Amino acid sequence: MKNIDSKNHVTGKSVYVDDIPIQAGTLFGAVFGSPKAHGRILSLGTTEAELLEGVVKIFTYKDIPGRNQIGGIIEDEPLFAENEVHFIGQPIALVVAKSEIIARKAVKLINAEIEELEVITDAREAKEKGNLLIPSRTFKLGDVENAWPKCDYIFEGKVESGGQEHLYIETQGSYAYLTDNNSIKIHSSTQGATLVQKIAARVLGLPMHRIEVDVARLGGGFGGKEDQATPYACMAALASFLIQKPVKVILHRLDDILMTGKRHPYSTDFKIGLSENYRILAYQTTMFQNGGAASDLSPAIMERTLFHSTGAYFIPNTEVTVHSCKTNLPPNTAFRGFGAPQGMFVIESAIAKAACELNISKRLIQETNFLKEGNQFQYGQLAENANIEKCYYSAIKTYQVNEIEKEVEGFNSKNTNYKKGMAIMPVCFGISFTKTPMNQARALVHIYQDGSVGISTGAVEMGQGVNTKLIQVASQVFSINPGRIKIETTNTTRVANTSPTAASSGADLNGNALKIACTTLLKRLKSTSSKMLSCDASELSIEGEKVLKNGKETGIGWNKLVETAFLGRVCLTENGHYATPVIHFDKTKEKGYPFAYHVYGVAIVTVTLDCIRGIYEFDDVKIIHDFGNSMNTAIDNGQVEGALVQGIGWVTMEEVAFSKDGKLLSNSLSTYKVPDIYSVPKNIEIIPLIVDGPELALLRSKAVGEPPFMYGIGAYFALTKAIRAFNPNYKLDFDAPLTPEKVLLRLYQK
Ligand code: MTE
Ligand code: HPA
Ligand code: MOS
Repeated sequence: MKNIDSKNHVTGKSVYVDDIPIQAGTLFGAVFGSPKAHGRILSLGTTEAELLEGVVKIFTYKDIPGRNQIGGIIEDEPLFAENEVHFIGQPIALVVAKSEIIARKAVKLINAEIEELEVITDAREAKEKGNLLIPSRTFKLGDVENAWPKCDYIFEGKVESGGQEHLYIETQGSYAYLTDNNSIKIHSSTQGATLVQKIAARVLGLPMHRIEVDVARLGGGFGGKEDQATPYACMAALASFLIQKPVKVILHRLDDILMTGKRHPYSTDFKIGLSENYRILAYQTTMFQNGGAASDLSPAIMERTLFHSTGAYFIPNTEVTVHSCKTNLPPNTAFRGFGAPQGMFVIESAIAKAACELNISKRLIQETNFLKEGNQFQYGQLAENANIEKCYYSAIKTYQVNEIEKEVEGFNSKNTNYKKGMAIMPVCFGISFTKTPMNQARALVHIYQDGSVGISTGAVEMGQGVNTKLIQVASQVFSINPGRIKIETTNTTRVANTSPTAASSGADLNGNALKIACTTLLKRLKSTSSKMLSCDASELSIEGEKVLKNGKETGIGWNKLVETAFLGRVCLTENGHYATPVIHFDKTKEKGYPFAYHVYGVAIVTVTLDCIRGIYEFDDVKIIHDFGNSMNTAIDNGQVEGALVQGIGWVTMEEVAFSKDGKLLSNSLSTYKVPDIYSVPKNIEIIPLIVDGPELALLRSKAVGEPPFMYGIGAYFALTKAIRAFNPNYKLDFDAPLTPEKVLLRLYQK
């Protein structure tokens, strides 16, 4: 089935928050953010701005009727700064005016007098000074201390990975207005409708039932709208509640880039020990996560780093520690992979370092250590259907990797100014929110009298195609034409207490809830048809919109059936509830069974490097991916391609740069480079691993949103291979992103 949105997207008909027709009297908000990264607010001068024609009101923390607190996991973040500021762009005030232009003009007229305090932008420095967001955590398996003496080789090193700007096409935004009984409706570009509802209720001092949050779709989220859509929704709600007029707050692109958090940069020390036959016996890391000025989702992201720190390998003795460090940067947040890419980059770096020092192929160490059936992860869960070796050997054979290696060698021996490099990137990614209670969802299904169907779930469509998958589920269970089915907006009054659409679990959780609701309705309809035909329901089935008895046509169609059920006063509405079974996790022991299943895959990445200019092109990325039993190959392949390119961007060209005083230097699209169509690999091949797929995946079709992001990490190691082919003096290092500038320096390193 084609993505139901594609036509409206390409013809510009899809409606996003800023496209919602506005009501008469709508006002517009613009945010005044801190000009300094750390300091005490001595005074806030708003008089000039207030006098500007068209300015209605300027809000600060003093106007908040409820609590000035938007922290989700930890309550450590104000909506508006009170006496101190902790990062450049931190919201201090909201100007509300008759037009967007006036509001932005007024923002420029505000001045804050700030007594500057010490600015820390570096995670290690923050740790040294005792600035942690939350207590540090360690996951352990076996006993590293006892394992070191048994190792024949031990290597140590340092790994840096940078931030990443989400660059969703639709910037953060919200439109809020009053509804009956002084309640509020908020349209928000958020991945988490309930989170917006909960925090807005907190800020306004209202019960949640007076806040309705509605999400039609997002122009991309990528994690950037799991938590960070909330402040702008709260601002619009606050202003509309206090002025009693509709208020819209849409961030200008440059403000969005400046004010919102990004992927967490990590800085890591690692130690890896191997036996003489290259078995990894011990692995230890200390990771410094740059959390920014407030916790946001850092605790959960730290956790996912710990879960994924050994990548696709089994290491019997591991000890991984993450420190979540408080710095004067915008609070960093969820971004596709949610801390796992940072963890996996480190283990791949450690293996690359060992291979380089031992002068053997990295592939050999990878092969020797892949996760096997029944191996224990450092969090206690045992690997079931551990498909990594299947993916790997299938890739080696299907893509003739030995031939690729020979071609690369042949090319490199013939060319001096161009060099090629190849790398293999294995992925193992756990599916489920690591916080067990979040793994639940509901779906509300109406069958209307005319046989059409309306569905509401907690899933948010952000381009990943979840709505199309939901239609497939209902269409399959009812055996009716997808054209009869409509997916409604995500709305907290229809589906309450939603988890954000995140952790790649949107389709699994909401789709399974939907399947439960549809199956219950189908049972009722079968019971109706058994009365109509005076036979046992077990003899009946519905196929292709027709009621069949023992496989033969009965003359009763879907419309007739639904109409009869309605006239017979059968309930044609159902609410399905799904909670992932089996999973649990004990934080006091850091052990449990947190994931419903794992997604596996392998990518073979080849690059050609121009050794005069330091620029490069990715020739091929050849993937074997474990989709389970993919329910929509077009959408799933699209997810793999998009995630791959985003991953390549992270390790190659996307460089988030801050000055020492906390100023974002890469503050526009001329200074922050994202992959465009020319930097996409010239050839991407994706072949599914042939498997049944796990029971807990929706229709045995595995979650696909995040895992392929990590294939991009292969790009880093393909590049370092090419650099070393040109310059044997290049001392292998791990400092992503490996931009063309950095490549050039390494090509001529002495
Ligand atoms: N694909 C598109 N086109 N746009 C997005 O914003 N977000 C990614 C992924 N794929 C995203 C996307 C992220 S971070 C996640 S967690 C999943 O989609 C969320 O959707 P799912 O749970 O339905 O897979
Ligand atoms: N993944 C993504 N988002 C989340 C998670 C997770 O595991 N936990 C809380 N938010
Ligand atoms: Mo995705 S980072 O879990 O929104």
